Amino acid sequence: MRILTGLQPSGRLHVGNYFGAMKPAVDAQDEGDGYYFIADYHAMTTTHEASALRENVRGVAIDFLACGFDPSKAVFFKQSAVPAVNELAWILSTVCPMGLLERCHSYKDKIAKGFSANHALFAYPALMAADILLYDSNVVPVGEDQKQHLEVTRDLVGKINERYGDDTLVMPEARIRSATAKVPGLDGEKMSKSYNNTLPIFGEEKPVRKLIMKIQTDSAQVEDSKPTENSIILALYKLFASESDYAQMVTDHENGGYGYGDFKKRLADAYWDYFAPMRLKRTELAADPTQVDAILATGAEKARDEAAIVLDRVRKAVGLI
Ligand code: ADP
Ligand code: TRP
Repeated sequence: MRILTGLQPSGRLHVGNYFGAMKPAVDAQDEGDGYYFIADYHAMTTTHEASALRENVRGVAIDFLACGFDPSKAVFFKQSAVPAVNELAWILSTVCPMGLLERCHSYKDKIAKGFSANHALFAYPALMAADILLYDSNVVPVGEDQKQHLEVTRDLVGKINERYGDDTLVMPEARIRSATAKVPGLDGEKMSKSYNNTLPIFGEEKPVRKLIMKIQTDSAQVEDSKPTENSIILALYKLFASESDYAQMVTDHENGGYGYGDFKKRLADAYWDYFAPMRLKRTELAADPTQVDAILATGAEKARDEAAIVLDRVRKAVGLI
């Protein structure tokens, strides 16, 4: 089984990204033949400064490697290292009705947010389909927001195979991560960089502790019992703490005798310890950019070899060769 997913480099990653996207992808490495790439062509639709793009791509590569991507298990590469993806995107475009792209929420949302309607933003799902199909992917783990793009991909496979033969492209399947897996932000809303309520994965200790101390709580006194439902502190603590420590904090809420300051301190300690090994690895990687470049170069080579096989098959099927 080939598992593929693309990761858009979008600045500093937060705890919501980690539990919602990175950890599931890292866990999936052991399930099959993994292909993971940084979607830098896609990022160009919204990042228009060369230095910012370069920096974000490097940052996200380091973050993912630090968080457990293992280049000995999976192929890890930059999308633009395999330019053949553009040729497949073109081939897919020839069967892609305008209406299919016009209906895509991601495009409509970007336009509603004031982005100008350029061709890349419009054609984004066709390039994403090419990303998936260029490696004969079977399973594509993505967030709920990408579901429609997977449907577009499946539609395009249907059209190509109908026109050129059933063996031209492999039909992929989306694996949608549960929509309920929403990590709350410091204000209780969904953690998101657009809401300014995030806990960074790789923050400095003091500022992160300060952020945690600012979580809003009620006015219960130390001796009072405290509500466990809809508690931001408990929801976040559950992600970082052992089961027994979590159960202890629930009991301490119920019985009273501990203040919110104490709970927040436990949360900050658990957060800090949880990411400690990853932080160490990140420091190591950041200090040795050549190691990261070498990992991406090895991944690119494997990805290019695989892509060449698939593209050759498609070129033959459509009559280019
Ligand atoms: P943001 O909302 O901060 O802009 P993105 O849209 O860039 O985050 O999300 C990148 C990935 O992280 C997506 O796969 C998304 O599903 C996941 N993700 C983002 N925020 C959360 C969250 N609060 N809980 C769970 N998953 C999340
Ligand atoms: N569009 C995806 C996102 O924003 C990233 C992406 C690009 C992708 N190509 C892909 C995801 C192929 C899965 C498969 O999250």
